[in-house]
This record gives sequence, C-alpha cells and structure tokens, in this order.
Amino acid sequence: MQAREIIKKMTLEEKAAFCSGQDFWNIRGIQEFQIPPTMVTDGPHGLRKQVNGADHLGLYESVKAICFPAGCALACSFDPQLSQAMGEELGKLAQAEEVSVVLGPAMNIKRSPLCGRNFEYYSEDPLLSSRMAAGTVRGIQSRNVGSSPKHFLANNQEYYRMSSNSVVDEQTLREIYLASFEGMVKEAKPWTVMCSYNRINGTYACENQKFLTDILRKEWGFDGYVMTDWGALDDPVESMEAGLDLGMPGPAPENAARIVEAVRDGRLAETVLDRAVERILGTVLRYLENREAGAGYDYMAGHEAARRIETESAVLLKNEDAVLPLRKEDRVLFIGEYVKRPRYQGGGSSHINPWKISSFWDEAGSWENVSWCQGYTDDPADEKAERYLTEAVELAKRADKVVIFAGLPEVWETEGVDRRKLDMPENQNALIAAVAAVKPDTVVVLHNGSAVAMPWIDSVKAVLELYLAGEAGGLAAADLLYGRANPSGRLAETFPLRLEDTPTYPYYGVEKEDVLYREGRLVGYRYYNTKKKDVLFPFGYGLSYTTFAYGHLKLDRAEMTDADTLTVTVDVTNTGAVEGKEVVQLYVENASCHEVRPLRELREFDKVCLKPGETKTVRFELGKRAFAEWNPRTQDWYVPEGVYKIQIGANAAEILLEQPVGVRNAVPPRPDFTVNTPIGEILAHPVGKAVLEQAMGEAMRMFAGVASSNQEEPGIMSDAMATATMTSMPLRALLSFSPEVKLSQLEQLVGAVNQAIMGN
Ligand code: BGC
Repeated sequence: MQAREIIKKMTLEEKAAFCSGQDFWNIRGIQEFQIPPTMVTDGPHGLRKQVNGADHLGLYESVKAICFPAGCALACSFDPQLSQAMGEELGKLAQAEEVSVVLGPAMNIKRSPLCGRNFEYYSEDPLLSSRMAAGTVRGIQSRNVGSSPKHFLANNQEYYRMSSNSVVDEQTLREIYLASFEGMVKEAKPWTVMCSYNRINGTYACENQKFLTDILRKEWGFDGYVMTDWGALDDPVESMEAGLDLGMPGPAPENAARIVEAVRDGRLAETVLDRAVERILGTVLRYLENREAGAGYDYMAGHEAARRIETESAVLLKNEDAVLPLRKEDRVLFIGEYVKRPRYQGGGSSHINPWKISSFWDEAGSWENVSWCQGYTDDPADEKAERYLTEAVELAKRADKVVIFAGLPEVWETEGVDRRKLDMPENQNALIAAVAAVKPDTVVVLHNGSAVAMPWIDSVKAVLELYLAGEAGGLAAADLLYGRANPSGRLAETFPLRLEDTPTYPYYGVEKEDVLYREGRLVGYRYYNTKKKDVLFPFGYGLSYTTFAYGHLKLDRAEMTDADTLTVTVDVTNTGAVEGKEVVQLYVENASCHEVRPLRELREFDKVCLKPGETKTVRFELGKRAFAEWNPRTQDWYVPEGVYKIQIGANAAEILLEQPVGVRNAVPPRPDFTVNTPIGEILAHPVGKAVLEQAMGEAMRMFAGVASSNQEEPGIMSDAMATATMTSMPLRALLSFSPEVKLSQLEQLVGAVNQAIMGN
C-alpha cells in the first residue's frame, strides 16, 4: 500500500505520534498495516546498534561491527570512490543488522582544530567535505538503506552545542557551511537529513524554515525527511511548519499532543502534518520493500576494507633521507602503547564496538629485527613513567631506526567536549624529543582526530599521520611503514603552527550563547593564505615514496563569460621508482581579492594512480560556481568580473603551475540603484555616469565646492577628500546640500538609470 493511502486511514493522533520515534532508536511501526518499527542507528564510520540499553553518548554496548577509519582519516584520501566503498560496507552491515537508516556521514566544517568532534568530520573545505560525504551517502544507499547526513547546520563546536546560537553572515553560510551540504544533497540525494541542536542567527536549526524548506528542499531538491538530532526539538508545531518531519528520540507524547491540539485549534494545517508523515513513511516503505531478509555480512572482508581505506588515507608528512619505508633488515625499535593497543576511534555517539582490533604488533610483532618498549603512559598515576622514558632512550641508541607510535588519548577527543589546546601530552612530546636526540633516524606515527602541534618536528626524520585509523589501522600502518603500500593521503585540514594562529583564536570555545563567526569565509587555508601566515603543514599536503611532476597546464580559452564552461587539462608524471597515487588539486585564485574574499579556493581535485615513468592527462571543467561568490543583495551567485588564476597546487600553499582567465558576466547584473545608492557606484556605471552628470552635475559640483571651501583650516579637506566623500555619499544626501534638488527628481533619475541599463 502507498504511504498516501495509509495516511488517509490514520487518525489525527496516530499521525501526530508517528512524527516522534517509537523509542530511542525506532521509527514507530503501524500494526494495522503490518509496518514494523524500523531502526535508525549511528554512524558514521561503523554501526552502533544498541540492543540492550540505549543512549546517544556511546555508553551502553552495541553489537559488534566493523570500525572503519573515522571521517578525519577518510577525507585525506581525497577519493570519493573510496568513501563510496566504505558507505557500501555500512549499507551491507545495516541490511544484515536490519537497520533502515545510518546516522551519518557527519560533515560539519572544521572551523577550528579544537572542535571535539572534528575526528568525525571531513574537512575545513566545503568542496572536499561535500564530495566525500556524497560518496558515503551513495554507497550506503546503494544497499537500499537510508543515510542521514548531519548536523545541518553551522554546528561547529561542542561547547553548549545544544543551545548556542551560531551568528553567521549569509555569504559565509552560503559559501562555506551550506556549501558543504549542497553538493552532497544535489548529487547523492540522501533519504534523510539530521538537523543540528544549535540555533542559527537566532532560530533553532529544527525550526528554521529558511534552511529546512527554502534552501534544502526548494533550492536543492531534497525529497526525504528531516529528523532532529537527539533531543534537539524545541517547539514541535513551529518545527513542523518550518519543514521538520521527525523528532528523535521518542516516544514524546507531549509533542504529539501539542501537534494534535494545534491542528484542532487551526494553528497547524492537517496537510502539513500529513506531509511530514508521508515523507517519513515513504522512506520507511522504501527500506521495507528492499529489505534483504537474512542478509549476512562478511566481517573478514569488512576488516580488509577498513585496512585498505586507511592505507589510502594515511598522510606521510615528513620523510627525510628516505628513512621510510623501513627495510626488513633494519633493526627497528617500536615505542609506545599504541603499537600494541592502538588509539583508533573517538568517543561519543560514533563509538563502535569493533569486530576485531588489529594492532601493528599483531601484524609485525613476530617479524625479525623488531623490538618494542613502552616509552610513555597515558595514565598519569603510573609510577613507572620515568623508567619507561630512560629505557626507551637506552634501547633507541642500539637500534638502526626508531618508530614512536604517539597521539592523543581518547579522553582528549570526544563528542560533547572541545579541546583546549593543540598540544599532545607533554610526556609524549618529551619522549619524542629525548629519543630523537640520541637517534636521528626517528619516525613518529600519529594517532589523533585533529591537528596537533609538533614542537619536535625538526628533530625527527619522518612523520606518518594515521589519524583515527579504525580497527584495522595497525595493518595499514605495517603496509605503509614497510612500503607494501605507498602513502597517498593529503591533509584535509591545515596543521597550524600555534593555536594563536588559528582563524577563530581567541574566541573559539569561549562563547556559549551567541557564537559569532567573525572570521567569515576565511576558514582554514582560506585564512592562512589570505593573511599570509606560515603553517606547520598546509591543507592538501602529503608526501609519497615516489615523486610527481606537472606540465602542460592548458585552458581551452583565455576569456570566458560566467555562462561558459572552462576546460582545464594538466599532465602529471610519476618521476620516481615506485607506483604511487597523486591528488591533483585545482585552485582558483580570485580576481577581486578585497579584504574578505579568500585568496584562493579549491575548485576541483582528482586522484590518479601512476606507474613509474607514466604520465596521465587530468581534465577538469569549471563553470560559474568556480568563480562566484554569494551576493546577499540579489540573493544569488555572482561572478565579480576580472582576471582569475587557474592554479595547480601541490597543496593550498604551494602553487606549481598557473594560467590566467578573464571572466565577464554573460548577463550584466540587474541594476538596483536607489536614492540610497552611493553616488560613486552610479558614476562607476557608464550609463549611470551619463544620466547623473547631465541631471545632477551642477548639484554635485556645488557639493564638492561646498565641501572643499567649507573648511576652517585650509588643507584639512582636500579636493581628493571631497571627491571621496561624495563617492560614498548616498544620492539622496544631495537634498541636504542643494536646496533646488527634489526627492521626486532623484527617484525619477534612478528609475531612468535602471531602465536605460536594462534597455542596453
Ligand atoms: C549526536 C548525533 C547522534 C545522536 C544519536 C547525538 O548526541 O549529536 O550525531 O546521531 O546523538 O546517537
């Protein structure tokens, strides 16, 4: 039976109740129509299906599932096909566990490296975030299970996450925070979207008609249901009106009663309730009709997929004197707890009960020429700390090479709490420095969910960033360290030198009511590049065991309009001795780089695999959006005319090749001159200049004369100053300076200018 027919037979009370969960994890079943309760479950890098006891903080145990690399790692693959492959595994797992929706991907922008959930999120860049998320969504949904990309919108801190108000200007929202969701929604068509806890510019995300309906549905074509984050619902009636469909968790009898009451007393149209029920029910039926009853899951294959995904994602940050890859004959001392018990996931609602944890030592512990020692402890009460350090330094002296597995302890990175600093634990930093002092051939392997400071970077030879690598991360580490695989990850976020350098310093994590996004669009590398700040490692950075060279950057035209498509081709060659993958990154340097427009933005990327000596030509197409910014005045995308640079970068800070392209508007922007428009803007337009000078030349000359003669001390107001003052003066101010001028005359004049421009 179709959703609509069922809805016709449901009572008002049944429909209202259907818009809250049946319990913590299930959408209400409708017995009369043989619709069972259907389960939704976290996400995003595994399945947290709880059967005994439920919570949204990861406290009660969940069934065993594959714990894949967290979003922070996956995004560094720069490979949407890979996130699709992970999504497919999640979809298969969900089918086997009878789960209708996976609550993920988590895809908020990394506004600050301190956000406690950055380990779940993908990037500081909306294009990368949106493409990686689209891959995950496509993968999950290819198995007829829904996904719920979250948390929509501007939920970029954990501090007071349930009540804070993100105050963000429209341009920043459109170009950064909405953009992260936009491409994913349009491209991958998620079955559901989860709205966030916070308010945005004063209105709770779940009550925000502009985002839930006007943009998400009407502009982007979203046709699934919107559910709340757990406990985010404020006013069930206002939310439903705004475009929210499902409040989670449930049951929430009072919310249902309030909806019933609102329909009865005419405050809420019953059709709005029916609409919400239809959206939820339609999605439930879609899942039920495609359920793979009795589907099993191949956990060993899942574990292998987790290993492969991490192998493609880890980032080689430093490798001097080719200290890596290690050779089997090297006598290597491995140091640290994480060698044997890896830190592989974050805390909170994404916490997976792993099927099997494979440590590096499980793989390599029995090999020849390897040894291990503790080195440090995360337990501050451990009295042997001093001894671990001394022992490590002594053993290091006798090894050919040392590899230290370090990172952030789990309690430092968890949902609900933001980090306070960039630093790793002091004892780990001290250990790395002490060991590197006696053994220059020291390698650091990092386990962390977000950027860290590296005070010891100059004294170690190599750094391999694993991030939170999932349950098979230890195997991937062995593959990469010993050269069975070639690192190909690139940083999806900037590693700053110091916390004080970050765009949101010093106000991030301090504001709990109104959280002002003062940095605007200058998020991540957009900030560091524009402000010319040095960083530890830039966005897009990563090394390989081979080398690549670029050439023949070609644009198919030197001039274009914003209605055209620019085709860009570039050759990339593997100039080293082993096969490797390169992430080709295309940035556009903006033409009109005034104070707040980012200097350069990632507009395309592709990952290519090259054999030694092989060259491939990579092709990109750029349309209007690659050059556009949001114009809040016209409520539309707009390309400032000028010369843009098409750049191929090794990363966001290192441009290897560039070519200019002139971009004009195919259709000149609609004039919207009013009597409040600054005179300079009207004069800047040829038609405006002609009309204005003819009609108001005298008045303007009078003003300029008045301004420059009206000085008590000669020299204070120069002619240049008078002109500048007039340039920024609204047209209507002429009324105050020239008694002959009439308001009606000015109104007629701007009308004539607007019309003349349109007529041209
Ligand atoms: C988190 C969501 C999660 C939900 C259910 C909330 O606390 O913010 O990401 O899906 O709990 O566990």
